[in-house]
Amino acid sequence: MLVRCLYASRPTKPFSGADLDRILEQSRKNNPPQGVTGLLCAADNLFLQALEGGRDEVCELFNAIVRDERHSNVRLLVFEEISARRFGTWTMGQVSIERVNPALLLKYFRRAELDPFECSGQASLALLSELVDNASITMRND
Ligand SMILES: Cc1cc2nc3c(=O)[nH]c(=O)nc-3n(C[C@H](O)[C@H](O)[C@H](O)COP(=O)(O)O)c2cc1C
Repeated sequence: MLVRCLYASRPTKPFSGADLDRILEQSRKNNPPQGVTGLLCAADNLFLQALEGGRDEVCELFNAIVRDERHSNVRLLVFEEISARRFGTWTMGQVSIERVNPALLLKYFRRAELDPFECSGQASLALLSELVDNASITMRND
């Protein structure tokens, strides 16, 4: 049983590249043994993360992430059973929203800005899917 989970949250304080690296480092260590893959999109004032894997593994990780004090206002946007992964290439891929083409943001959102708190979960998911197709994803530290 594979599932996909998409959530958005707010950093509790301004985070640096080093803070982000620390999260990605933890993901790279913990996710492979659990068979979890995904994508983390970080902007100044938000995180948007997709997690894919077995239901138990994704739920356990999501529970841990919700308790993490580095962010708050965690909002579950999508939780669905899937037949195949969309973000299976990365132990945790990373995308900087500042580098995303504004035209791509306009395709899915009211303005050329990512606001997963105000739009449907499926719109945010579609954006992430398109970023995968456009090869906009990087793996830091690798
Ligand atoms: C936005 C965000 C995304 C995170 N994503 C992951 C993740 O994909 N995998 C992971 O193991 N930890 C992730 N974490 C960290 C977890 O909340 C938690 O600190 C970590 O799993 C604990 O791992 P440790 O016991 O090895 O220190 C994330 C934290 C934040 C704030």
